[in-house]
Amino acid sequence: MLKKALTILGLCILTQTTFAQNNKMEASVLCYNLSDPFIDSISFDLKDKAKKENIDLKIYNAQYDLLKQVEQLQSAIVGGSKVLLVNPIDTLNGSAVLKCAEDASLPIIFFNRIPSQNLLQSYDKAWYIGSNGEESGQLQAEILDDYINTNGSIDKNKNGKIDYVLIKGEKGHQDTESRSNAFIKNMIHKGYKLNPLADFYANWTFTSAVNEFSNKLLSTNIDDIEAIICNNDAMALGVISVLNAYGYNLGNGKNIPVIGVDALDEARTMIKSGKMTGTVSQNSNLFADTLIKATKAIYTTGNITPKDINIDIKDRIIYIPATKITAKELK
Ligand code: GAL
Repeated sequence: MLKKALTILGLCILTQTTFAQNNKMEASVLCYNLSDPFIDSISFDLKDKAKKENIDLKIYNAQYDLLKQVEQLQSAIVGGSKVLLVNPIDTLNGSAVLKCAEDASLPIIFFNRIPSQNLLQSYDKAWYIGSNGEESGQLQAEILDDYINTNGSIDKNKNGKIDYVLIKGEKGHQDTESRSNAFIKNMIHKGYKLNPLADFYANWTFTSAVNEFSNKLLSTNIDDIEAIICNNDAMALGVISVLNAYGYNLGNGKNIPVIGVDALDEARTMIKSGKMTGTVSQNSNLFADTLIKATKAIYTTGNITPKDINIDIKDRIIYIPATKITAKELK
């Protein structure tokens, strides 16, 4: 690990000496993994908006590889990018990419995956744009509460508690912990008693959710599950595919409420057809729009103000507001 970190830092020093100047408005987007449907949708919107704003935007895909992301950042800087939009792989990579930006004296906007506060505050040209996990978890609790108020109690075994399964994203990711904790806190605040039947990580992906949930069903009776809360939609869709195999959530009323986050197109379709209860939109379009506005502002003025993006800023952190999506919103 140490050897890898030194290699990464070495690459940054190399970058500093080969940095080339030009006057064109160029920016680069470094994505942690474009097979992630949420990141893919942001990158799609970014390309579109950059074209309209006449920004030459290069998009890189690190495919979850730490060293690759730093190499990509190096080529972005050498290639003349003036603003770096980075969706970092982890905190170590956060510090490595920050060093590259700092050595080249370039602004860096982290997005979707926040590096540590210390790191972010250590460089005055470092910013963060993302969504607030607490807000998403709170909205998931509101969706379940609304569902119960509309459809009646989900307490099938009458134990006075909601027997739920929690499917978490990536271990150590800020949204995993904050969404999960906020869902639980807000349900308790609304007066519900909770009984966790199972709680596991599925790394944001459809496939891991299918595998992990199928495994849990070997020791958990599916009929005992009263709600399934997923940190994102890809995992919720995986869970629904397993439920379908057991005759649940086929759109015929025999449902276990499933709630996700991201408002992917596939999740919207499931919600419309009554197979999924709801999701929380991170407003990927507004997310991309804010990234582009912030890029323009920092390029032209060296700063980003709330006026530039129409969103509040605190300690160079910008949160994109989230929205509840249920069948009601999709009518
Ligand atoms: C979350 C999103 C997940 C995944 C993750 C990657 O905000 O809900 O689906 O994209 O970011 O960092």
